[in-house]
Amino acid sequence: MDIQRFDPHTATDAEWDALHRLTVAMEREYHPDDEPPPRADIELAWRNQPASLAVHHWAIWNGRDIIGRGGIWIWTEETNQHLAYFHLYVLPAYRRQGLGRALLARVVEPARQANRVLLQSGTTNRVPDGEGFLAHLAAQPALQSRESQLLLAEVDRDQLTEWQRQAQAKAAGFTLERVHGAYPERDLPAICRVFDALNDAPRGDLDMEDWRHTPEKLHEWHDNNVKRGFDRWTIFAREVATGTLAGWTEVLYNPRRPTLLIQLGTGVLPEYRGLNLGRWMKAAMLEQVLRDLPQVTHIRTGNAVANAPMLDINIALGFKPYQIETIWQIPTDRVAEYVGA
Ligand SMILES: CC(C)(COP(=O)(O)OP(=O)(O)OC[C@H]1O[C@@H](n2cnc3c(N)ncnc32)[C@H](O)[C@@H]1OP(=O)(O)O)[C@@H](O)C(=O)NCCC(=O)NCCS
Repeated sequence: MDIQRFDPHTATDAEWDALHRLTVAMEREYHPDDEPPPRADIELAWRNQPASLAVHHWAIWNGRDIIGRGGIWIWTEETNQHLAYFHLYVLPAYRRQGLGRALLARVVEPARQANRVLLQSGTTNRVPDGEGFLAHLAAQPALQSRESQLLLAEVDRDQLTEWQRQAQAKAAGFTLERVHGAYPERDLPAICRVFDALNDAPRGDLDMEDWRHTPEKLHEWHDNNVKRGFDRWTIFAREVATGTLAGWTEVLYNPRRPTLLIQLGTGVLPEYRGLNLGRWMKAAMLEQVLRDLPQVTHIRTGNAVANAPMLDINIALGFKPYQIETIWQIPTDRVAEYVGA
C-alpha cells in the first residue's frame, strides 16, 4: 500500500482510470440507485476547482488500483479563515486496517500550515462507517441536513398552477424573471445581497461565520460551471415598484447525467418573507423543468433538518427523504494529536 498525492493537473490516463473505478464504487455506496458517474465528470470536477479553494488530494495505491482517497478543501476567502473541510474514503474491504487514520495524517498537514484551527467533514446515514469513525475521533455532530428527492412523474401539476395563481394574488407587486446561464451584470450586487440571505438558513452548532457573496465570486462560480459543462437556470422575484430583487431559486443540470437535476439555493430577503414568493418561484421552476427538460426524472436537494420553512415547501411539492447528512467538526489540534503529528 502506497499513499501518494493525486495531482489532477499531471495525472496520467491510467491514474484517472483508477480514480474513476474507486469513485464508481464510492458512489455505489452513497447513491446506490444512480447511474455510475462518467470519468469525464470526475476529471472535470477535480481539474476545475474554484480559485477561492485550495485543494489537496491523496490516493492509496494497491498495484494499479486506488483503494482509498483523502482530500482537504481550504477556503482562501476573507471569511471562515479558521476552517477547512476534509473527506476520506476507503473501500469497504480495506476498512479497519489503519488506512483512514493514515489518510487523516496527510490531510491535517495543509490545514495546520494554513492555520485552520477547526476541521469539518460530512457523513451520510447510508454509510454508517463514516459516522462511526468520526464519533470515534470524538468529533461533534454539528448540523444535520436532509437530502430529499422528488420524482417528476409524481408531481401534481394542478398544484403548481394553483400555487402560482395564489402567489400572484398575494404578491401582486412582484414579477418573476428567468435567467439561463450567466447572471445579468447589472444585477450582480443585488444578486449578492439576496444570496447572502442563505446565511439565515439554520447552521446548528457549526462554528461558521456568514459567507459573503461578491460579483467576483459569482463570476468565478459561473466560469467554473461552464468549465465543468453544467447548465444553470435561475428564477428571480423582483418588486416592480422599487426594482429590488427579493429572492431567487435555481437548479443545476449536468448533461452527462441527464435524468438528475440538482435544486440549489432558494431564498427570500427577510423583508419580503411571508408573501408566498418562495412557493411561487419553486412552482414556476418546476413547471419550467417539466416543460423544457423532459429527460429529467428526479430532482435532489438538501436542507438543514431544522429549516422548517424550506422543508415545508419541498415536502408539499412531493420531495421525499433520501438520506440524512451530518456535518461534523473537530479541532485541528485534536486530529493532529490523534494521528501523532
Ligand atoms: C471513514 C473511513 C475512511 C475510515 O477508514 P478506516 O480505514 O476504516 O479507518 P481506520 O482503520 O484507520 O480507523 C481509525 C480508527 O477509527 C476506528 N473506526 C473506524 N471505523 C469505525 C467505525 N465504523 N466505528 C467505530 N470506530 C471506527 C478504528 O477502530 C480506529 O481506531 P483506533 O483509533 O483505535 O486505531 C471509512 O470508514 C470510510 O471510507 N467510510 C465511508 C466514507 C465516509 O463516510 N467518510 C466521511 C468521514 S471522513
